[in-house]
Amino acid sequence: MTTRDPHGLTGPASSRIYDFSIGGKDNYTPDRDVALQAFESLPAARLLPRENRKFMRRAVRFLLDEGVRQFIDIGCGLPGNGNVHEVVHGTAPDAPVVYVDNDPVAIVHYQSRLHSVPAATAVHADAREPAAILKHPEVTGLIDFDRPVGVLMCSVLSHLLDEDDPAATARAFREAMAPGSRLALCDLTDENLTPEEAAIRDELVERTGVMITLRPRAYIAGYFDGLELADPGLVDAPDWRPDRAHEAATGWLIGGVARKP
Ligand SMILES: C[S@@+](CC[C@H](N)C(=O)[O-])C[C@H]1O[C@@H](n2cnc3c(N)ncnc32)[C@H](O)[C@@H]1O
Repeated sequence: MTTRDPHGLTGPASSRIYDFSIGGKDNYTPDRDVALQAFESLPAARLLPRENRKFMRRAVRFLLDEGVRQFIDIGCGLPGNGNVHEVVHGTAPDAPVVYVDNDPVAIVHYQSRLHSVPAATAVHADAREPAAILKHPEVTGLIDFDRPVGVLMCSVLSHLLDEDDPAATARAFREAMAPGSRLALCDLTDENLTPEEAAIRDELVERTGVMITLRPRAYIAGYFDGLELADPGLVDAPDWRPDRAHEAATGWLIGGVARKP
């Protein structure tokens, strides 16, 4: 999400809106106002953050089962319950985990949580500058891109504008990662967006300054170009290897996990 004052405390911030939406406490009135407006006008908005979070955890567990032992989480948001390093270290206590976000507040919160976790760190960097992330000393200090890595991009590329070229961000990570690496990604598609919902979205953007871009399924599928999608492919996020049957469909959030051959 891009905002007019994206990380200030007087306006809404993507990370804190999301934090409120998943039941967190690190948010303020402008963040809650935007979330509540979205919940009221777009019923799916209440479901999306929770399903996003659940997809992320299932994807990490899947990658652990597949033997992946290092992770980088782009657009990590504020820490909540069941964060990536907690899921990872439940199985592989020494596996490196690097969090990246362009919201300095999210990074400070992670850093304070991670001060006694040597295998994990949080880096303030921007997904629009993937080369800078890939050569950041704190990233390269923990992540060995010559070995398989799990790259997580969960609801972050929809926060980039078209002119930011989100496909280039995904491509940079695909190119940098070693064979056997995985990309786990979910994002918002416009394929089921009704004209009424599009109008509500536009009105929310105008009123709050919080920007989010829903994209065609084919564009999101392109983030996985050259990779092999694991079953069941790119699907509505709750349908991706669900823990329980009959998870509610979001209609908006699609996700998949793919391996670099
Ligand atoms: C919806 S939250 C997703 C949180 C997390 N990925 C998860 O699945 O729980 C989106 C996050 O992306 C971050 N973000 C937005 N634009 C970004 C950018 N250009 N670079 C890095 N992070 C960005 C926001 O600050 C926010 O924390």
